[in-house]
Amino acid sequence: MSTREETVLSVENLQVAFRDGGDITPVLRGVSYRLPKGQVLAVVGESGCGKTVHALSLLNLLPPGGQITGGHIYLDGQDLLALPPEALRRLRGAKISMIFQDPMTSLNPIRTVGKQLVETILAHENISKLRARARAVSLLKKVGIENARQRMNEYPFQFSGGQRQRIMIALALCLHPQVLIADEPTTALDVTIQAQILRLIKKLQRQSGMSAVFITHNLAIVAEVADEVMVLYGGCCVEKAPAAELFARPLHPYTQGLLHSLVSLKKKVEVLPAIEGYPPAPGEPKTGCPFAPRCPHAFEKCRLQMPPLTQENGREVRCWLRGTHA
Ligand SMILES: Nc1ncnc2c1ncn2[C@@H]1O[C@H](COP(=O)(O)OP(=O)(O)OP(=O)(O)O)[C@@H](O)[C@H]1O
Ligand SMILES: [Mg+2]
Repeated sequence: MSTREETVLSVENLQVAFRDGGDITPVLRGVSYRLPKGQVLAVVGESGCGKTVHALSLLNLLPPGGQITGGHIYLDGQDLLALPPEALRRLRGAKISMIFQDPMTSLNPIRTVGKQLVETILAHENISKLRARARAVSLLKKVGIENARQRMNEYPFQFSGGQRQRIMIALALCLHPQVLIADEPTTALDVTIQAQILRLIKKLQRQSGMSAVFITHNLAIVAEVADEVMVLYGGCCVEKAPAAELFARPLHPYTQGLLHSLVSLKKKVEVLPAIEGYPPAPGEPKTGCPFAPRCPHAFEKCRLQMPPLTQENGREVRCWLRGTHA
């Protein structure tokens, strides 16, 4: 992404840790990126690498025990971490909005879908109830809910998992945010529906010109919807690149492993040559590159010293095998 484009969201060296009694475990170890207006950043990586924690930090919604231990987050030039809680609450939904992994945790089960949409709009905007209702119906139509006007009166449980995800999108968009963060639903929805949902968000993103951060396991869809991709591993960014370049030439051994699994899936190979081993436990390993224990190219230095994130033709990669280190 070029530096000339207007940056909407800027994350600088974001660090997050969880406290459990006296123990403090780092789970995000310095994540940075810039999101230009109208662009989509995809955040990918195996389960537990810190994708959701990163997203929750942006909205100051970390669960108990979680705290931001370092870094900065700027939205439209405004330092979010310096804002009083009330000011940040007003920004949530209105300027930066999130679609959560599990819609049932964010939809109120005892309020109709229409009421939830209308109340959200009225809490932030000084418009008539009638206009808010009209906007809610039009949003439900936009996200593909049929018979939107009648279905406004139904409760979340009366919708399927995929439809609930669509309602979440309508809720996230009802105040026309500048930035949308979409944490891919990992449960309840099959891969085809997940892809449909991401495509729908992409369509709405393009229509409205907002910026978006897509968190997903589905690399095949990333190639289709993202402008830039950030690969997280063990709470670190190991590679960041324009999507087309990342897919054409992954630089980090972890990204190469992820893409290799994808190619195998496409070819329907029976035994998947996935990356051997497991992602690290939070805070592990204590020294060196987090991927070293699973990396087929690791040598002694990788286990002892964390490689820095280096720039390479507009891309970034964290690996002792790259750039001037190689
Ligand atoms: N409430 C919590 N208390 C303690 N540790 C937590 C908590 N929530 C997350 N973590 C830890 O933070 C790390 C990152 O978790 P996160 O939920 O961000 O992963 P993720 O990349 O979103 O995974 P997934 O793809 O499964 O959604 C994990 O190692 C997890 O154990
Ligand atoms: Mg997650």
